Amino acid sequence: MTDPIKEVTPYNDEENKKGQVTKMFNKIAPYYDYLNRLLSLGIDVIWRKKAIKTLVPYQPQYILDIATGTADLAIEAYKSLKPKHVTGMDISSEMIRIGDNKLLKKKLQDVITLEIGDSENLKYEDGQFDAVTAAFGVRNFGNLEKGLIEMHRVLKQGGRIVILEFSKPKVFPLKQLFNLYFKNILPVIGKIKSKDPKAYQYLYESVQVFPDYENFIKILKKIGFHSTDFKPLSFGICTIYTASK
Ligand SMILES: C[S@@+](CC[C@H](N)C(=O)[O-])C[C@H]1O[C@@H](n2cnc3c(N)ncnc32)[C@H](O)[C@@H]1O
Repeated sequence: MTDPIKEVTPYNDEENKKGQVTKMFNKIAPYYDYLNRLLSLGIDVIWRKKAIKTLVPYQPQYILDIATGTADLAIEAYKSLKPKHVTGMDISSEMIRIGDNKLLKKKLQDVITLEIGDSENLKYEDGQFDAVTAAFGVRNFGNLEKGLIEMHRVLKQGGRIVILEFSKPKVFPLKQLFNLYFKNILPVIGKIKSKDPKAYQYLYESVQVFPDYENFIKILKKIGFHSTDFKPLSFGICTIYTASK
């Protein structure tokens, strides 16, 4: 049995989470990359590299990056794995617009395609992809299990998923320091720089209720994934989850 996840939304209790999350990312999209680098001191780049590295032995040729945002993980996947094609999908048209501009600048528009869509209702065929990835995306799904079931469906038999997500450090004094930073400092910087007073408060709250480590593995197994594993990074600030279909 897996515990029910408490729903945390960015703005209010009336509208559904999916609508609010879409609105939030559309709003903060112009500041998203800059704030990622600033608030993580650039470590988010290393986390994505490490996540993609886990796919090297599998040499996936067709990769789907769920909740691709501005395409950082999709770009990293292309650069280090050299697959035939990477598809990135995201529910926020503004994040996709910024991602598309980035692909044009990097001349990657022929090998990486970005599409607007909902992770809970993917338009792709069963078994279409050799690997499915998601960085800092699954925590934002309206319905986590529905999104994971879709990731499982579009993955080919024997294919791999890689999910990178924030987790809660457990050890003293990292736990306390991280909490202080995440709860009190990061939302203030986020509020000033992103012009959205709620977005980085939501980040803290959504991480608090998200099932991490073994609890997330339990959910992956329940969906039908096997050969599951997880690797905490930076003392558990974030974790790479891997599994096979
Ligand atoms: C924190 S950003 C992560 C972006 C990118 N993967 C990265 O590593 O920077 C989360 C992304 O999830 C997307 N998202 C949230 N719910 C979604 C859904 N139901 N379907 C598709 N994308 C979704 C948001 O629009 C946003 O771009």
